Amino acid sequence: MQLVSEDIIYVGVDDKQIDLFEGMYNVPRGVTYNSYVIKDKKTAVVDTVDAAFEKEWLKNVEKALGGAQPDYLIVQHMEPDHSACIAAFVKKYPQVTVVGNKSTFVMLEEFFGKDVADNRMVVNDGGELSLGKHELKFVFAPMVHWPEVMFTYDKTLSLLFSADAFGKFGASDDDGGWTDEARRYYIGIVGKYGAQVKGVLSKLSAYPLTTVAPLHGPVLSGDALASAVQSYVKWSGYEPETDGTLIAYTSVYGHTKKAALLLAEELESKGEQVKVVDLARDDWAECVAQAFRYSKLVIATTTYNAEIFPAAREFIDRLVERNYQNHTVAFVENGTWAPVCAKQMRARFEKCKNLTFAQTEVKIRAALNAESEAQIKALAAELNSLGK
Ligand SMILES: Cc1cc2nc3c(=O)[nH]c(=O)nc-3n(C[C@H](O)[C@H](O)[C@H](O)COP(=O)(O)O)c2cc1C
Ligand SMILES: [Fe+2]
Ligand SMILES: [Fe+2]
Repeated sequence: MQLVSEDIIYVGVDDKQIDLFEGMYNVPRGVTYNSYVIKDKKTAVVDTVDAAFEKEWLKNVEKALGGAQPDYLIVQHMEPDHSACIAAFVKKYPQVTVVGNKSTFVMLEEFFGKDVADNRMVVNDGGELSLGKHELKFVFAPMVHWPEVMFTYDKTLSLLFSADAFGKFGASDDDGGWTDEARRYYIGIVGKYGAQVKGVLSKLSAYPLTTVAPLHGPVLSGDALASAVQSYVKWSGYEPETDGTLIAYTSVYGHTKKAALLLAEELESKGEQVKVVDLARDDWAECVAQAFRYSKLVIATTTYNAEIFPAAREFIDRLVERNYQNHTVAFVENGTWAPVCAKQMRARFEKCKNLTFAQTEVKIRAALNAESEAQIKALAAELNSLGK
């Protein structure tokens, strides 16, 4: 059994069979659904797991309890990747008290019907629960990632059970580090709710923090925790992390790709940091996360049936719905007979606040020529001058 502290036991599971997380994110290295048992005078279980792992989880909990009966089930989040086993748990341990807030119980009844969980403790923001040695405090975190979400702060250990916050994609054997898959997870899932994340981070700044135990990914402490908190401050404030350019292209026959690569070469020759992605082929959530990461974004795409090429159109929508802001954006447009995608792309970004559009627009007619190559060079010079 894996210990988080002397008397907190990890009882979560690895999901390596999942096809799409939340029905839309590729997770080639799996994902974890974390759950914890706090053993004290009173025993508490923090969250359940996805329905596919009910048996495994119940077994983990039983083993961790070592024959004891659980007193509380703390429900931090009602999304089914964490709540699916509540009914089975209550059935197995009918004396348990389910701890949640008003919204938790509204959702609990929506998912499981009115008759589940007879013993309930309804807590308020800042409400407390003593297990004996462990003094718990509930910190509401609405929209991180659903409205009912609450964190659980263990005052005794300065340990925060942070629900989805500080989570990442990747099963427990994923050795790819925290930042990249935590960024893809955060931007994808809560990117829209930066203001709410900022709000709860500032509420938490009053609490000493030595350990964070999220519902996905590893338990964080020490330098890893300090760096994760720094990342969350940046991400929730929509601050770019890296001064440089993401060039996101689509290309059917290679001409727009060639333009994208020429721009990359020009920028690199000026010492700019550049990353190039193919919007039709690369993981869409990674492309979105990288667009938030880099300070400048160039979208190079083709006109397609008098519209923006679908993969680029979708990419923009995914940025806009995540409140993309505080970035510089430029367009490279291709079209053989009636190019219209640059104008349409700009219009699609209209709802975004605090975007700066580059002055230079690159207009390609089918293939690069001397004129459009000169525009690429001018765009590289403009983007480079912005970085200084
Ligand atoms: C299915 C399809 C539809 C297209 N529709 C348009 C269009 O409506 N207007 C236009 O100017 N070009 C249109 N094009 C041309 C492309 O915008 C682009 O110029 C051409 O595909 C060359 O770029 P590429 O090599 O990067 O694909 C279309 C191309 C394809 C394959
Ligand atoms: Fe969630
Ligand atoms: Fe989750």
